[in-house]
Amino acid sequence: MTEIPEHLLKRSRDRRAAAGGSSESPGTEVATTKDTAPAAAASTTPASTGPAPRTAAAAPSEPPPPKPDSPVVAAYRARRKVPFWAMAALALLPIWTFMYVRSVTAQAEEASGPLAMGAEIYANCAACHGGAGGGGVGYAFTEGEVLLTFPNIEDQLRYVLYGTGAYNVAGVEIYGNPDRPGGPHVTGARGAMPGFEGALTDYEILSVVCHERYTLGGADSGSEEWGDEFEHWCSESSEYFLELEEGASLATLHEMHDGILAVGDGPASGSPAGAD
Ligand code: HEC
Repeated sequence: MTEIPEHLLKRSRDRRAAAGGSSESPGTEVATTKDTAPAAAASTTPASTGPAPRTAAAAPSEPPPPKPDSPVVAAYRARRKVPFWAMAALALLPIWTFMYVRSVTAQAEEASGPLAMGAEIYANCAACHGGAGGGGVGYAFTEGEVLLTFPNIEDQLRYVLYGTGAYNVAGVEIYGNPDRPGGPHVTGARGAMPGFEGALTDYEILSVVCHERYTLGGADSGSEEWGDEFEHWCSESSEYFLELEEGASLATLHEMHDGILAVGDGPASGSPAGAD
């Protein structure tokens, strides 16, 4: 027979007292506790309308089911991740872009003079005026057509700078030669010509206008009619082109030189042949 230490017996007695039972003799203490515990459990189980504290106590023992992800989180988890090797390629992208732009620009730098540059810049115009200047949405430049509209290069520069929208707002109806054979070209009659001020630099605008007049339009740079204009505006030694490259402005170029018409800082009516 083993002796049960006093402190264990006391603990057992205390538990029973807490459970509402009366204290009994130490000898039966352990056995009684064992017997009554299942009985107590069994007695409460059938009571479906059991006391609230019991159900509340049972709830935390069951782990709550995991909350389903929101569609956003689910999509984020299921996303295709960028493979690590592609990160290297992505990191190099800015350098690639820089090199690409350099390679395109370097070509433009090699070609010297307004006509060479203008041939490149004309990429901005070809969609509407045709790659060879034969026309499309916009007018043709070929076979002298552009020279008929603009006997003075300044009027063409102004028109390309500011475009149909600004001419409409300013109420300028005839942007080119008012005495044009076959009738003047009227603002908006053919459609909308975008203004290129800001999109292209002033010297780029001069270069593309030179391309339209001399390469596409057929002006003869050696002729008496066009030789002077060509020398000053469009030749490789064009002083106006150089000044624009150095930061002068088309709008105020006439203030620096005698004998040229004002391009000005906004739309103006076109001039007849021989105006400058
Ligand atoms: C989105 C199409 C479009 C683009 C791009 C475009 N143009 Fe035009 N262009 C037009 C249209 C349309 C007209 C006729 C405008 C009108 O009727 O007022 C025109 C007219 C002109 C004229 C007057 C021709 C004439 O004989 O009356 C010139 C010069 C001109 N464009 C030059 C250029 C240059 C230079 C570029 C490129 C830097 C360019 N255009 C890009 C559509 C375009």
